[in-house]
Amino acid sequence: MNPRPIAAGPVCLKPVTDVYRKDVLSIDVSPDQARFVATNAESLREARTDEEARPRAVIAGGRVVGFLMYSMAPDEPEAIVYRLMIDRRDQGKGYGMAAMRAVLGEIAALGHVRCVKICYDPENAAARRLYGKLGFAETGLDEDGEMIAELRLGADRACGPR
Ligand SMILES: CC(C)(COP(=O)(O)OP(=O)(O)OC[C@H]1O[C@@H](n2cnc3c(N)ncnc32)[C@H](O)[C@@H]1OP(=O)(O)O)[C@@H](O)C(=O)NCCC(=O)NCCS
Repeated sequence: MNPRPIAAGPVCLKPVTDVYRKDVLSIDVSPDQARFVATNAESLREARTDEEARPRAVIAGGRVVGFLMYSMAPDEPEAIVYRLMIDRRDQGKGYGMAAMRAVLGEIAALGHVRCVKICYDPENAAARRLYGKLGFAETGLDEDGEMIAELRLGADRACGPR
C-alpha cells in the first residue's frame, strides 16, 4: 500500500487579490518550520511595496493550500522564487512539488526568463529535497548563510555564465 496520501487534484496559482487574501493569511506552517519562511502577512506587506514581487495563492480542490512569491524584473533573464509554503495540514500531499512545477511553468511562459533561482536554509531538508528533485543545482551559501540554487529553464541544468 502507498503510505503517501494522494493529492486531491491539480494545483493552480492565482494572484493574491482580495478574493484570496484572507485565506492566504489564515494558513501557516508548523511551529518548527517557522524559522524557514516569513509569515504570509510579512510577505504580502513586502509585496505591496515591491512592484517586481508576484505573490500567488496555491489552490487545490477549490481551496487555498499554500502561498508562494517570486520576483522578476521585466527585462531580466532571471527570476527568483523566494517564498514557498504549504499549510501544515496539507503538507506531504504533493502540493509543494505541484506548486513549484506550476510557478516554473508560469515563469517559462513569460518567454524571457532563462534562469530561476531559489534560496533556503541549508538545514531545511524538505526544501532541499524538493528543489533537488526539480533539478535545481546548489551554487553555494550567500552572505546570510542561505543556500542558493538555480535551474536553467528548458534544460534541467544549472545556469551557466551569462
Ligand atoms: C517545503 C514544503 C513547501 C514542501 O511542501 P509539501 O507539499 O509538503 O511537499 P510535497 O508533498 O510536494 O513533497 C515534494 C517533495 O519534497 C520533499 N519533502 C517534502 N516534505 C519532506 C520532509 N518532511 N522531509 C524530507 N523531504 C520532504 C520530498 O522529496 C518530496 O517528494 P517525495 O515524497 O516524492 O520524496 C513544506 O514542507 C513547507 O511549507 N515547509 C515550511 C516552509 C518552507 O520550509 N518553505 C521552503 C522555504 S525555501
